[in-house]
Amino acid sequence: MKVNRRNRAGRRKLLQGALGLPLLAACATTARNDFRLPDSFCGSSLPPASAADVQSARVRIAAMPAQRALKAGSGSADSTPRKTAIWTYADATQPELDSPIIRARQGELLPVLVENRLPAPTTVHWHGLRLHNAMDGVPEVTQQAIAAGERFLYRLACRDAGTFWYHPHLMSQEQLVRGLGGALIVAEDQPVPVEQDLVWVLKDWLLDADQQIRGDFEDTRDMSHAGRIGNHVTINGEPAQFADSDPRPLRIPIGARVRLRLINAASARSFVLKFESDSGFVPTIAALDGFPCPLHQPPDGVVVIAAAQRVDLLFDMPDGRIRIREMREPRRGFMLRELLSVSQVGQSQSRGPLIALPANRWLEPKLDQAKIFDVLFEGGARGQLKQARVGRESLSAEQMLDRYNMNWTINGVASREHQHAPFIRVSCNDSVLLRMRNDTQWQHPIHLHGFHFKVLTVDGQAPRVTTHRDTIMMEPRSRAEIAFVADSPGIWMFHCHILQHQAGGMMAAIEVI
Ligand code: C2O
Ligand code: CU
Repeated sequence: MKVNRRNRAGRRKLLQGALGLPLLAACATTARNDFRLPDSFCGSSLPPASAADVQSARVRIAAMPAQRALKAGSGSADSTPRKTAIWTYADATQPELDSPIIRARQGELLPVLVENRLPAPTTVHWHGLRLHNAMDGVPEVTQQAIAAGERFLYRLACRDAGTFWYHPHLMSQEQLVRGLGGALIVAEDQPVPVEQDLVWVLKDWLLDADQQIRGDFEDTRDMSHAGRIGNHVTINGEPAQFADSDPRPLRIPIGARVRLRLINAASARSFVLKFESDSGFVPTIAALDGFPCPLHQPPDGVVVIAAAQRVDLLFDMPDGRIRIREMREPRRGFMLRELLSVSQVGQSQSRGPLIALPANRWLEPKLDQAKIFDVLFEGGARGQLKQARVGRESLSAEQMLDRYNMNWTINGVASREHQHAPFIRVSCNDSVLLRMRNDTQWQHPIHLHGFHFKVLTVDGQAPRVTTHRDTIMMEPRSRAEIAFVADSPGIWMFHCHILQHQAGGMMAAIEVI
């Protein structure tokens, strides 16, 4: 890794750039081994990083351009697929490795050194991690963007075990669409034993006839409708879109206990996955957005994952095939992947029933004392939005569209820049209840940084299963109530994770003081 080869001056520059601190302060040492992650970050802070932290960072990734074959050769086995110019995260020591799965342990403060080898500034957001605000990767708010050629040391508080992911938070409607995004897996203190722990990063790509990523990242129609939907789907970068059968099914020993971690890293698409088998098998949902939930089966065996959400499934591999079909548009459904059982020699028997994952430590909000806020989402095609505020201006919906290519508001305000006045301010450790209403004709997966919230009601009804999420899908013309304890100070983004909607104004900020 380059850091070791850098000269002194370079290293000093790196420290200043990466840590935003003068060299001397950065070198101050702390009793790091005594550091423990508290249940609430109110009144506790991240110990300063040292030069040693940079040099010893266990995980080093580089954001960089690359060429990848995203499609298998069309038909015949020997036709060479054309490569697509993408952007990817590479393990800085193994650049041929795409978007490595970053693995951490619960309770750890994980140092990740990010190097920007892109032709543009970037940041990395650690989606779903309840970490310190300074490490949240929001440009101009929690850090200066990482300029091309620069590095930044993230130190990730892994309070929670579960399935998380990382992606850029600067021009994400372009950077994520070009391919940046990877899995971050935090192992439980006491792992639940499984024989196969699979991580699938689901992603779609909008490719032109030359197999290149279409450059219309700010297309007005995508922005004001359902977002940018790709025409090619991959799992971990491998083609995962087949007409009727998967030519290379994944072989899994019969009876093996499997944990399948699904991450939706698409910019807009929901994945609607139907699990089919001859044995009538239905998978069990064990966690949503990284947070364990009561074990339950999805209605009709259909697992729905909105943009940015995660679902952890647990199951014992049945005899035969499991076909996973993508059914978002039922008439244009396709085979995503197939699992095929293989017999194993000396197979162990009877694993007993599935066991729920151990809960993460999460403070229960006090609803009778909660600060209550109404949140209204408006705009989009066929919406009723008349007037909106953009910065200091008050504009009609048409003016906003013409001048800024924006079309969405949260409580009447359209924000595209990360730096703007927070629309909600609360005190540290306050209980917060958001009463949200989607007054549009479109779906919005709404994401809150820095917290997991409990879903109290959807359209006035308590949900069938209690869940703690970081991203909730708001159906068109629907309502939802969510609650959390504001146990982490800072300015936290709150936005639609359809990235074209986010760029189109659907972003706000919540400040915890
Ligand atoms: Cu997945 Cu604001 O982020
Ligand atoms: Cu949206």
